[in-house]
Amino acid sequence: MTRQIEVRPISGALGAEIHGLDLSGELENSTMAAVRQAFFDHGVVFFMDQQITPEQQLGFARRFGEIDVNRYFPTVDGYPEVAEVRKEPDDSYNIGGSWHTDHSYDATPALGSMLYAKTLPERGGDTMFASMYAAYDALSSGMVDMLSGLRAVHSGARAFGPKATSNDRGAKFKLSETALAEVEHPVICTHAESGRKYLYVNRGFTLRFANMTEDESKPLLEFLFQHAARPEFTCRFNWRPGAMAFWDNLCTQHFAVNDYHGQTRLMHRITIQGRAPQA
Ligand code: SIN
Repeated sequence: MTRQIEVRPISGALGAEIHGLDLSGELENSTMAAVRQAFFDHGVVFFMDQQITPEQQLGFARRFGEIDVNRYFPTVDGYPEVAEVRKEPDDSYNIGGSWHTDHSYDATPALGSMLYAKTLPERGGDTMFASMYAAYDALSSGMVDMLSGLRAVHSGARAFGPKATSNDRGAKFKLSETALAEVEHPVICTHAESGRKYLYVNRGFTLRFANMTEDESKPLLEFLFQHAARPEFTCRFNWRPGAMAFWDNLCTQHFAVNDYHGQTRLMHRITIQGRAPQA
């Protein structure tokens, strides 16, 4: 029997709350198909009022694919596949506090990320999301023509390389030479599920256009980073206890708002293996 789920969009561009599901139990294939459809339709979905263990979060994540273990984040004790997104009262740095897509520095970036709220600040600590379908759709035909032939170079160097400075401000990343590796992806990609085109560059991990210098790339990349974050392409999620977000890492970007200094925020994040973005 298919459980009746209710999908409530939260903005014009992307994002929907899913009600009527208890993720601590086994879900029928037909219910999973409805969740999957909502995920691809809305770019990011939010499950409300859940009480799940790391095993249950992993079990749900595995219904979408193999786990793509993050190489740089601290992990939950006993669960190497579950990353901790933690900010303590003395930290000034928060993980994800600039627009980015998770794992775009990998040749095969993660399909999606599931973020479950464990400890929330009294207020603040929202997450913003932006639709890269909407960003693509709003580009002029001349800009699309120019971008269509371009590829961009992505790397985790600035965030996770040996010279990254975030750990000085409280991050506990495993900094590594492996983060210096560079990969290329098309700037305009076509989503394998929806067939829609999306813009695929992000401020966190895109360094330059392929075969160009950083200086040459900077003006156009800067335009695209600002364009991608236009308010009408975004939604903002105000976390409540028991909420879990699940976003598509190809056609969305996200930004964790760092406005709760002196308080603790702890989330459990699982990333799921995906497919390489295609033009
Ligand atoms: C992330 O960038 O994956 C974390 C987002 C958040 O903590 O809201």
